[in-house]
Amino acid sequence: MTDPLHQELLTLAQEAARRAGELLRDGRPADLAVAATKSSPIDVVTEMDIAAEKLITDLISAHRPDDGFLGEEGASSEGTSGVRWVIDPLDGTVNYLYGLPTWAVSIAAEQDGETVVGVVAAPMRGETYHAVRGGGARATGAWEGERELACRPAPPLDQALVSTGFNYVTEVRTHQAEVARKLIPLLRDIRRGGSAAVDLCDLASGRLDGYYERGLHPWDLAAGDLIAREAGALTGGRPGERPAHPLTVAGTPGVFEPLQRLLEDFGAWHD
Ligand code: IPD
Ligand code: CA
Ligand code: CA
Ligand code: CA
Repeated sequence: MTDPLHQELLTLAQEAARRAGELLRDGRPADLAVAATKSSPIDVVTEMDIAAEKLITDLISAHRPDDGFLGEEGASSEGTSGVRWVIDPLDGTVNYLYGLPTWAVSIAAEQDGETVVGVVAAPMRGETYHAVRGGGARATGAWEGERELACRPAPPLDQALVSTGFNYVTEVRTHQAEVARKLIPLLRDIRRGGSAAVDLCDLASGRLDGYYERGLHPWDLAAGDLIAREAGALTGGRPGERPAHPLTVAGTPGVFEPLQRLLEDFGAWHD
């Protein structure tokens, strides 16, 4: 039976993700422009990222005024309840800016520092993924319907479909391109979807065999990491290390460790 607090947090996260997803899907201005840049000139934010984060934090605060927040667009507060919300209001901003459909709203709830609930809504796919710690992962959606998520049986690495992403900082992305160049001949193929949260949910759904990326932030990962793990995937950092920073690796059992080892061999953790 699901812990009543976790059930409450899940219901609230689902409602907030649904409403923010509708705002982003239905309210995208035709002339959407870049509002500001962050870590580099290609690291952009739009008015819609900011509006979606406000909608989510306003809704959650109205129901649970004592919770803390960590949001990509600046939401940051300690709270006193032991619950903290980790929010990426729009994961895949560059796709969204261009009108590409792969983007998502990502909302996780931590209890005493541990992620207990994760929700990722991908409105243009009509799919929402969720997990409660210890309770498995599920998805709802028009294409494959309501279903339990389970990552696929591991193929040999040369048959594995692996997704990645490239950080916005030039030196980091240049190094990651070099690592990807070495990996490509050893895998079935590489994908670059443009949303870390969707990548992790695709791994959970059996649509990918692995995923890795350098330089992610807690809000990119929190919900998708729980969903992937509850679907049976393994996630972590350097071989033997759980912290998923500065490089996150995820994969089905069988793909995870060989992928970690290859990334280590190719210097993915080096500067
Ligand atoms: C980005 C996306 C992208 C990943 C970047 C992230 P944002 O998040 O997840 O796939 O490659 O590293 O920063 O900025 O669109 O929320
Ligand atoms: Ca961003
Ligand atoms: Ca993100
Ligand atoms: Ca974002």
